Amino acid sequence: MTPDVLASASAIILLLSLAALTLLRVLSSGKDTTHKVRSDGEDKGDVDGHELKLVILYGTQTGTSERFAKEVEEEVRQRYGKAVRVQTSDLEAVTSDRAEDVLLEGSMGDARVLHVFLQSTYGDGEPTDASSEFVYWARDLADDGRMPDLFKAITYCVFGLGNSSYEHYNAAAKLVDKSLHALGASRLLELHLGDDDCTLEDDFQGWREALWNAMETRYGICAEDNLSSGGEARSYHVSTASKQDAVAAERLESEAMSKRPISSLTSQFSPYAASIVLAKELHSKASERSCVHVEFDISGTGISYQHGDHLGVFAENMFPVVQRAAASLKLPLDHSFTLSMPDDAPASLTQPFPTPCTLRTALSRYADLLNPPRKIALAALASVATDASEKARLEHLSSTAGKHEYASYITDPSRSLIEVLEAFPSAVPSLGLFFGAVSPRLAPRFYSISSSPLVDPDVITATVAVVRGDTPTGRLHEGVASTYLSRFVSSNNAHGEEKVKPEMRTERVPIFVRSSTFKLPSDPSVPIVMIGPGTGYAPFRGFIQERSALAKSGKLLGPAHLFFGCRDESKDHIYQAEMTDAVASKTLSSMNVAYSRATSDRKLYVQDKLMSAAKVIYDIMKGKVGGNEGSIYVCGDAKGMARDVHRALHSILMSEGEYAAHEAEEIVKRLADNGRYHKDVW
Ligand SMILES: Cc1cc2nc3c(=O)[nH]c(=O)nc-3n(C[C@H](O)[C@H](O)[C@H](O)COP(=O)(O)OP(=O)(O)OC[C@H]3O[C@@H](n4cnc5c(N)ncnc54)[C@H](O)[C@@H]3O)c2cc1C
Ligand SMILES: Cc1cc2nc3c(=O)[nH]c(=O)nc-3n(C[C@H](O)[C@H](O)[C@H](O)COP(=O)(O)O)c2cc1C
Repeated sequence: MTPDVLASASAIILLLSLAALTLLRVLSSGKDTTHKVRSDGEDKGDVDGHELKLVILYGTQTGTSERFAKEVEEEVRQRYGKAVRVQTSDLEAVTSDRAEDVLLEGSMGDARVLHVFLQSTYGDGEPTDASSEFVYWARDLADDGRMPDLFKAITYCVFGLGNSSYEHYNAAAKLVDKSLHALGASRLLELHLGDDDCTLEDDFQGWREALWNAMETRYGICAEDNLSSGGEARSYHVSTASKQDAVAAERLESEAMSKRPISSLTSQFSPYAASIVLAKELHSKASERSCVHVEFDISGTGISYQHGDHLGVFAENMFPVVQRAAASLKLPLDHSFTLSMPDDAPASLTQPFPTPCTLRTALSRYADLLNPPRKIALAALASVATDASEKARLEHLSSTAGKHEYASYITDPSRSLIEVLEAFPSAVPSLGLFFGAVSPRLAPRFYSISSSPLVDPDVITATVAVVRGDTPTGRLHEGVASTYLSRFVSSNNAHGEEKVKPEMRTERVPIFVRSSTFKLPSDPSVPIVMIGPGTGYAPFRGFIQERSALAKSGKLLGPAHLFFGCRDESKDHIYQAEMTDAVASKTLSSMNVAYSRATSDRKLYVQDKLMSAAKVIYDIMKGKVGGNEGSIYVCGDAKGMARDVHRALHSILMSEGEYAAHEAEEIVKRLADNGRYHKDVW
């Protein structure tokens, strides 16, 4: 081989191994999926001489409590140095067969061990998927009541992450706290709750300060001198790359993601880049809003899914947003670079996204630019601001004292990171600092799959309401993923002429399937009630397709009642023809639609429709129809609709069965416990 050929071959090998490596890296949050408990002792050797061992355990769905846990870990190291040994772990690793050992390990005798839980709540007041085994294990052991002293040797505290606009505010954290207490463990601190509706950052900061005080008082440890805010330490190492290398690496990355997955499962950490084969608007021209139907091609991939599962989608920021971010960073869009972990990387610094790449790609795919920045981002910006007044203001906004200003300037008006960068032009972070500390990773969005593989296993469909509205700062907020997906809709497909906008046809969208328990009863003859207004109808479209396919294969179908709601029949009754066909073919027994804005009279919602069909619902709940198996399904808005539907079910039990309120609650709870009342709410 000539030296030239050798050089090209080694360049190709380098790029291929780079692509393989980067594929293995985490696309979104950099989360480690290996469940390994990373501990200070393991990393740095002997733990003798530590005065206290801190075990931090987190239960997360979208990464916030993991990030917080790592920030606590970092701050503990910084504040207390060798006096405290820290170990941080995902509660996913604390399975029921290991939980007792994990909690009791090192806690006996006069050992000084503190367990710190950061627990998020998800779904409808449930623990996060990965922590549910631990949470329910602790609950069941506590409910059992036979071991009130099991954890007598344990000291703990819990910080909850939730959102007060949900009915079951911080329910999972409350359950962890209560269960451990009932099992004899003592609280170092009372339960602290963080509210993601408005004050999560401050709640977390307040809890951390309470934690340091309590630890110092209880264990006699002292903070070291010269503490820094920490934000500036979270930075990647950056090296400049040639544009040619960046473009080649990006191409390899995309190609690798579009290859068939080796297994039938894809995950957030190994998404499949799918083509979109159909994107169409579901609202009529008269509607002032938009909702799009999107079909992803999974043919030949081996990816499998079931009705009711969720689809994860990695979207991209729109080009004007990317341009504004690049302008704030004072770099051209084709600037090409490589990110790597510094040797002394702090715990909260996630693995970098695949590089080399251009700034345009990095800002499009990986940067969360439209959410309000966290305090730690403001601290990082303050560390590089060259204008004294900008620096002082950023420092204040990121401090405990700046709590009210942070709320009024950042949280309340939903001021985006882009707006903040533009408001503080002297704070120009390096790319390492920007991607490490200022901009969080752009998270995947989830969609309830609106198709059934029994009808077409080669396609997964999503039904996406396009988020668009003005913010108090005068910004037009266009939701990242919903806007991105709506860009595939051709303006020329009123009669199906163009299935996808021509310029988007070659675009590949990274997706993955997340399984869910929101499933039809295994026996199709069992009666069901489906309640899903707006895009809450999505999984029920899949259910109806599934039932239709089952009927065609000779299965006997039980009654199925659909409760759907939208504003106006002429504007946003999505999939109306399909629903009507389903009634005609008896796949649906009834279709009950509430049009909330059809008339100027009182607004009508799905819960009103439920009340009108009270007898049907009552008979299914009480087993008068379908024995004790009939199931109720609710999908859509968790904050308002699911709560109102829950109340309507109560009212039905009270009016039709003359139950007292507490009896009605008990019946609904039993339905849920017995797997007959399911919610897929967000
Ligand atoms: C399990 C699950 C299933 C889901 N299924 C579906 C589904 O089937 N169909 C569907 O459409 N969605 C579904 N969602 C919601 C979906 O995941 C996304 O959250 C939604 O599409 C918005 O994402 P986005 O990137 O477009 O918007 P983002 O960029 O994430 O913006 C939305 C956020 O911006 C904020 N916001 C909204 N309006 C404004 C405003 N005017 N000013 C300031 N801020 C504002 C809100 O906090 C909102 O959370 C589901 C979510 C979950 C968790
Ligand atoms: C789909 C969805 C459901 C949620 N359900 C609840 C809930 O029932 N109760 C609650 O207090 N918070 C709820 N939350 C809010 C989260 O707990 C909160 O945003 C938290 O900060 C997320 O932390 P994580 O990123 O660690 O998962 C929900 C959030 C989402 C996106």
